[in-house]
Amino acid sequence: MKKSYVHGYDHRENIRLQDQASTLVELLHSDTSYPAGNLVLEAGCGVGAQTVTLAKNSPNAFITSIDISGTSLVEAGKKAAEAGLTNVKFEQADIFNLPYEPDSFDHIFVCFVLEHLSHPVEALQMLKKYLKRGGTITVIEGDHGSAYFYPDSESAHKAIACQVELQRQAGGNAMVGRELYPLLHESGFDSIRVSPRMVYVDSSKPELVEGFTKKTFTAMIEGVREPAIKSGIIQQNIFEKGIKDLYRTAEPDGVFCYTFFKAIGTK
Ligand SMILES: C[S@@+](CC[C@H](N)C(=O)[O-])C[C@H]1O[C@@H](n2cnc3c(N)ncnc32)[C@H](O)[C@@H]1O
Repeated sequence: MKKSYVHGYDHRENIRLQDQASTLVELLHSDTSYPAGNLVLEAGCGVGAQTVTLAKNSPNAFITSIDISGTSLVEAGKKAAEAGLTNVKFEQADIFNLPYEPDSFDHIFVCFVLEHLSHPVEALQMLKKYLKRGGTITVIEGDHGSAYFYPDSESAHKAIACQVELQRQAGGNAMVGRELYPLLHESGFDSIRVSPRMVYVDSSKPELVEGFTKKTFTAMIEGVREPAIKSGIIQQNIFEKGIKDLYRTAEPDGVFCYTFFKAIGTK
């Protein structure tokens, strides 16, 4: 099987992806906009958490957003309709078996998808086939090895390591952000540029405390409680302390840092 992932489908995860998207819009997307008339493929759009921003930032480009999950596409369609988007069409498709002609798109956009794939280079090479010569691919990923915080906590690092391990067991890589340059290079893209985007949160930024530290990052780690404890990779009391300590970083004297990586390559 070429792809598998730990999260992506359930309602709670959808809400988390939405919180994540709205909190990080400026940091991750403010420098992405495509010219009028360009055809853009968003691969692995999920519930459309990034699609709305993508479409709004490029109102005169035509965006095709695909995902392998029909359930997610229904959600994405609703979100696009609510936002009044007219430049996006959603299609159910597999990155490894796309129903398009080669060289069909001017640009490709992929966010938080490679982390779930056991063959990221193969996926990037597949996508490259559908890109016109001179077109760009934009890839955004996180890296759980980049999480550090005050007060520091061994239990919190152990809880985070559970998510990394479960994602690894499912064939993915929760620390893929640092690999974007080598992955794009190996996939044959040129002019690769990677920019790290650090989220720094302290209590002077209450919207990030809520939207990122609590509802995005800690919620994601909490989301693996059951499989982590069931599989025996962590003791329940350590996991619970880890989660408590992650919430502790959201207190008035707490600090939380995390780095996303945004890469652009050209065909
Ligand atoms: C974590 S979600 C990210 C969704 C969205 N890009 C975002 O940033 O919110 C990963 C998505 O990739 C999709 N996906 C995974 N493997 C895929 C494949 N082979 N083809 C198409 N979509 C895939 C999943 O269904 C899921 O919706």
